[in-house]
Amino acid sequence: HPPSFQMGETSGLRPAICRAKGAAPGFKVAILGAAGGIGQPLALLMKMNPLVSVLHLYDVVNTPGVTADVSHMDTGAVVRGFLGPQQLENALTGMNLVIIPAGVPRKPGMTRDDLFKINAGIVKSLSEGIAKCCPNAIVNLISNPVNSTVPIAAEVFKKAGTFDPKRLLGVTMLDVVRANTFVAEVIGLDPREVDVPVVGGHAGVTILPLLSQVKPPCSFTPKEIDYLTDRIQNGGTEVVEAKAGTGSATLSMAYAAVKFADTCLRALRGDSGVVACAFVASEVTELPFFASKVRLGRTGVEEVYPLGPLNEYERAGLEKAKKELAASIEKGVSFIRK
Ligand code: NAD
Ligand code: LMR
Repeated sequence: HPPSFQMGETSGLRPAICRAKGAAPGFKVAILGAAGGIGQPLALLMKMNPLVSVLHLYDVVNTPGVTADVSHMDTGAVVRGFLGPQQLENALTGMNLVIIPAGVPRKPGMTRDDLFKINAGIVKSLSEGIAKCCPNAIVNLISNPVNSTVPIAAEVFKKAGTFDPKRLLGVTMLDVVRANTFVAEVIGLDPREVDVPVVGGHAGVTILPLLSQVKPPCSFTPKEIDYLTDRIQNGGTEVVEAKAGTGSATLSMAYAAVKFADTCLRALRGDSGVVACAFVASEVTELPFFASKVRLGRTGVEEVYPLGPLNEYERAGLEKAKKELAASIEKGVSFIRK
């Protein structure tokens, strides 16, 4: 392939204006890790999103095939593929939103922190590319361990002088998606009608569902609370074990990533009242990063909401979550500073 191969743009048979007529107005989005288990269905779903006009697919392997495949979909976004580090800069230049599902997934018996060794370096180099080529882009970081990779990206951006806490978001939407599903099952509602705030972080006890704040308001027995909290905190492990060594959640994650990216794009477009949970720079607790509900706008995170009233069970959970989170955040920060 030439230095940067492009597909889905124009055959060259007619002037580019013909293509431009039908091209969607919208945002430029890059997916880093686009050939992976999450990356491929995420590319498919983003190609279907009417808010996306240009979709850049970057990976260190297999992007020619994925790009050719996705580019044949008769939706508006123009798709371009980029392969290997020498094409990273072209992949990133001009992007409004960068979604990062690059990195290795868990196998049974592993914690998300066991992925740190490999994924920390991957996130560092991709963040350096973002700081250089699209410092104003909104970043949706999926690569695990999110509790450490978000602080890593923040430190890289600080070093480069480009850090804006409003634009860096760790994706915890899958925890919310799972919480909505499991709660809906227990109370017998359509999951689309359920909204469960999930705060803290994205690993084990740091995943803190606030079942006292579920909408529509409902009450749970202590047994239900134990069951739901455990299932939401261990949803990732449930999938890792079921996949028996072949990976972790990819399809539900791609769904959650698109739900979150679409939320960010609607906010960038100027929609009002756009709210979602995300792991962001925060003053909600004494920790520098924390997941909670945030309001998004044209500049990214415009307001980080406080946790609201917690019951005793949730307060105890919060203390546990903060202890583990503090160590994970520190691990990410010192990976760059030392
Ligand atoms: P995968 O192995 O199927 O795909 C990862 C992709 O990243 C591969 O195509 C690989 O080539 C690519 N990659 C590796 N190094 C790269 C680099 N330097 N630049 C660009 N691409 C690179 O894994 P997956 O199942 O797609 O999971 C990806 C990550 O997402 C894992 O770390 C996983 O733990 C995490 N994850 C997070 C959540 C969440 O809720 N935040 C949910 C599920 C998975
Ligand atoms: C998940 O929650 O599914 C992801 O974080 C992947 C994993 O390792 O559990």
